[in-house]
Amino acid sequence: MNIHIHSFSNVPHSGFVLASAAGMLFLGGTAESRPNAPAAFCIASPAAAICQGAATPDCSLCHTAAPQLNLYGGDLLAVLRTYPEYTLNDFSLHLGSAVNEIHDLDSDEDGSINFDELLAGTSPGLADNLVPPPTEDLNWDPQTALKRVSVVFCGQSPTYEELQELNTASDPRALVHQHLSQCLNSSFWKDEALYRIADPKIGPLEAIDKNGEVSLANDDWDYRLFSYVMTGDRDARELLLADYHVNQDGTTTTDIIPKEQRFEFGDRISLGTGQPLQADKRCGMITTQWYLVRNTMFALVPRNTAAHTYKEYLGMNLSLGEGLFPVGGEPRDVDNIDIDAPDCAVCHSTLDPLAYSFSTYNGIQVATNEDGIDLLGNIGLLFGNPFGEFNAKRTNWGADGYIFGQPVGDLSEWCQVAANSPQFAETLIGTMFNFVFSREPTITDKEMVGDLQQELSSNNYSVNRMLHKMIDSTLFGGAP
Ligand code: HEC
Ligand code: HEC
Repeated sequence: MNIHIHSFSNVPHSGFVLASAAGMLFLGGTAESRPNAPAAFCIASPAAAICQGAATPDCSLCHTAAPQLNLYGGDLLAVLRTYPEYTLNDFSLHLGSAVNEIHDLDSDEDGSINFDELLAGTSPGLADNLVPPPTEDLNWDPQTALKRVSVVFCGQSPTYEELQELNTASDPRALVHQHLSQCLNSSFWKDEALYRIADPKIGPLEAIDKNGEVSLANDDWDYRLFSYVMTGDRDARELLLADYHVNQDGTTTTDIIPKEQRFEFGDRISLGTGQPLQADKRCGMITTQWYLVRNTMFALVPRNTAAHTYKEYLGMNLSLGEGLFPVGGEPRDVDNIDIDAPDCAVCHSTLDPLAYSFSTYNGIQVATNEDGIDLLGNIGLLFGNPFGEFNAKRTNWGADGYIFGQPVGDLSEWCQVAANSPQFAETLIGTMFNFVFSREPTITDKEMVGDLQQELSSNNYSVNRMLHKMIDSTLFGGAP
């Protein structure tokens, strides 16, 4: 039986368009884009603990055994049914507002409202209330801290010898910090944990990465750059500012990296790889070939690229209406899609100017004619490496950008403003907090987050220094 799990054909802002676009263009296939309830839920409620990392919630968030709904799912459906136009076909369009409407309810009546449970990672549909215990009665304990440091940052429990050593140490706290330093230098941290932390920012897609049937770019460069910037006491702002790439052997280079795979057209199509962008146009993670291919694709106004950066690096989800800084006279509808209609302008008076600065960077540059792909027109793909190149003539509005309501003349300026914003620091702390505690910081963590922010700015944005501060907290090392 073909179960139709929330198949929404009409979603304007759905993800994974790229895979199907590439499929249609190059393979003639019809890989249909089929967002489902779990994905739609995370678009609507990105702060939920279950939406962190590459995972999406499973059906049990809303169902006992699908299609049977649990208490939370039941409340969602009750709200959905109050929408006059609601049908199952546009479920995902309405899910966001329904989720918001029941944030303050306690669907499972376990004493915690739905929103708190989503943040904490407990189920709002099951009376399983496991909200974080209060830390007032706890004291920082070296044994507890060492165990946690080992598991979180080294990926394994401490050895018997390590625990023994702690018992006899004259300064146990210093020893725990020493252990953390070792872990932060381990390959577990550098090549596994940080890679998983990077996943949602990089957005790997097997179909089109260097190993895919269609190879458009190589995201190894992205993972290496992320891991490099986040370690070794480097300045984390380089995530948005680095003008270098990190080679496989760990050295850095500001050179242009030539194609690593030769042009290939046939069973396997290889068009990109390498890093074609010159150093003075680079903005770290957000101007790699992969990032521009993955997010800009064919768009003249790279709205996805801007929105994804805004969300992943500055913590604001524009599709939820977060981070609105409307610019007067915008959107001007530069690409003639009637985006200046009032319903669209709410968000796009912020988003379009935010995206202009990206518009002089190529996404996927493929010439097409009425027969499909125009091989002659794509001669540049054969000899050059155009995806992700700087291209001053690509649009006329590359100098008209804004971020946080502030005009910026080009993407480099955009990145300076972004990297030095409080939003960047908060998002970075939120990301690491989430990795360590498996939940978003909530209002109760306000003081700790403030301390971490202080630590970050007084240590030149060293993530390592910030993590050393984090493990000193009672939240991390507290024991009764
Ligand atoms: C965010 C909450 C949520 C999640 C997660 C979720 N569902 Fe649903 N699901 C609903 C709601 C609400 C309905 C009722 C919609 C309606 O009847 O209008 C529903 C209805 C259904 C139905 C019956 C309607 C149909 O589409 O045929 C099935 C089957 C179903 N879900 C399967 C699943 C499966 C399988 C998963 C996991 C992959 C899943 N759901 C995840 C909320 C969710
Ligand atoms: C709630 C805010 C919001 C509203 C309202 C909104 N958009 Fe968007 N739009 C976004 C965001 C955010 C993106 C970037 C993609 C994403 O994150 O979903 C986007 C992207 C787009 C894109 C680019 C999609 C792509 O794949 O390249 C188009 C086209 C678009 N919107 C058109 C519209 C139109 C037309 C309207 C009015 C009918 C509209 N939007 C209303 C927030 C909004």
